[in-house]
Amino acid sequence: MFSRYKKPDQSKPQLVEVPKPAPATDTATTSRSSGVTRKPSKVSAQVVPMDKEKKRKERLGEIKGELHKRLLDNLNLSALETATENDLRAEISAIAGEALEDMAIVLNREERATLNQDLFDEVTGLGPLETLLKDDSVNDILVNGPQQIFVERAGKLQLTDVTFKDERHLLRIIDKIVSAVGRRVDESNPYVDARLADGSRFNAMVPPIAVDGSLVSIRKFKKEKLAIDDLVKFGAFTEEMAAYLQAAVATRLNIIVSGGTGSGKTTTLNALSSFIDDAERILTIEDTAELQLQQTHVGRMESRPPNVEGKGAVSQRDCLKNALRMRPDRIIVGETRGEEVIDMLQAMNTGHDGSMTTIHANSARDGVSRLENMIAMAGIEMPIKAVRAQIASAVNLIVQASRLQDGSRRMTSITEVTGMEGDVISMQEVFRYQRVGLTPENKIIGHFTATGVRSNFSERFRMWGYDLPSTIFEPFNGN
Ligand SMILES: Nc1ncnc2c1ncn2[C@@H]1O[C@H](COP(=O)(O)OP(=O)(O)OP(=O)(O)O)[C@@H](O)[C@H]1O
Ligand SMILES: [Mg+2]
Repeated sequence: MFSRYKKPDQSKPQLVEVPKPAPATDTATTSRSSGVTRKPSKVSAQVVPMDKEKKRKERLGEIKGELHKRLLDNLNLSALETATENDLRAEISAIAGEALEDMAIVLNREERATLNQDLFDEVTGLGPLETLLKDDSVNDILVNGPQQIFVERAGKLQLTDVTFKDERHLLRIIDKIVSAVGRRVDESNPYVDARLADGSRFNAMVPPIAVDGSLVSIRKFKKEKLAIDDLVKFGAFTEEMAAYLQAAVATRLNIIVSGGTGSGKTTTLNALSSFIDDAERILTIEDTAELQLQQTHVGRMESRPPNVEGKGAVSQRDCLKNALRMRPDRIIVGETRGEEVIDMLQAMNTGHDGSMTTIHANSARDGVSRLENMIAMAGIEMPIKAVRAQIASAVNLIVQASRLQDGSRRMTSITEVTGMEGDVISMQEVFRYQRVGLTPENKIIGHFTATGVRSNFSERFRMWGYDLPSTIFEPFNGN
């Protein structure tokens, strides 16, 4: 019956192994699972109503683990690659049906359907993670060991009821992901970055460095990146700020988007890029290609870590140096975090104005210190004043993205870099988010306002045909 995908030498039911008693080191789930599956009499799907749902889940989990083991034993995995989805589903359902009969377990229709779907995900995809990856309302998936999976929805972290069977199960899924991109993760190489087939960013760290079980973080790839209009609608910034940013991008100011982890830096950078003229040649450089530019003339580069022999690395700096020879009109670096800062500032200073990048910092001032530190770390011996002068002439605008405590993401500040005063870089904030309080539901109350200073680039904007009304720069007191 399962001739096509079943291993040829294992077609007889009696060859299907009865699960061995769990070894002492295995988790409680595994031992329980052996108990259930070896019950001789038919087990009904009915359980006491009290904690019916919980028990049903537990039981399904146990059966699933067992069936999955049998599936892996029985399916001819190399034949699976050419199988159509329908064939595979039918095959999985048939093998599962037979195994359930073998194990004398009766499930209702709904349980069978869930089980078959989970098994399908397990064989073809990323197991328990699959449902979360398919859920569009989920932004981030965070796994803290096999029994704890959090997701971020609308800026808030929530614990899910999705779990892995045990650490081995979790490790197997991690391995599946990283081996698909030619990487390896194990005790001697305990952390890894990768990109999932759908473009999502993936990072894993395994024991012993991860103490309580493997840690996995996934930033889901959004096919539809948030556009300027969406961000205005979501309250990330105002229409006036958008008009200012449009002028800033179109008149080729060098812009840095600064922000903490997951604050919306990449989203902001992507949205800002929509103001670039379609006629320009844009080169993007990223560690993990996330940006989705709308323009026609875009060259995308992705850096590469060393392979298992420690060879073949191509850094963002390598890409950036090469990009300068590729006649770019604009260079966009996804995130500046190391030595590439030197070439980025040089590019900004030498004719590739209109370039953009993001940095990890909590304020514009902090962002500048980060740049100084990165330059020092790159081994450039320059007096601090010269470093600052270089930064001040390269960077025109720092846009601060923040994730506030209620989960909302906002552009909390737009700051212009105006030059040097003595040894210090001078800056002026043009727009900011003013917090005024907190609702009883812990939602932040606040509003955006201009600070009242006149933009240092007003004249430049006007010369380029962006005559912003002066009302844009008038402070708003919230009424
Ligand atoms: N203003 C916003 N409103 C709602 N969701 C947003 C907003 N900005 C960003 N997001 C969502 O938040 C998540 C994180 O955004 P993004 O990847 O841009 O952050 P990041 O600062 O680049 O993160 P990292 O530090 O991990 O690179 C994404 O899923 C994105 O869609
Ligand atoms: Mg990012």
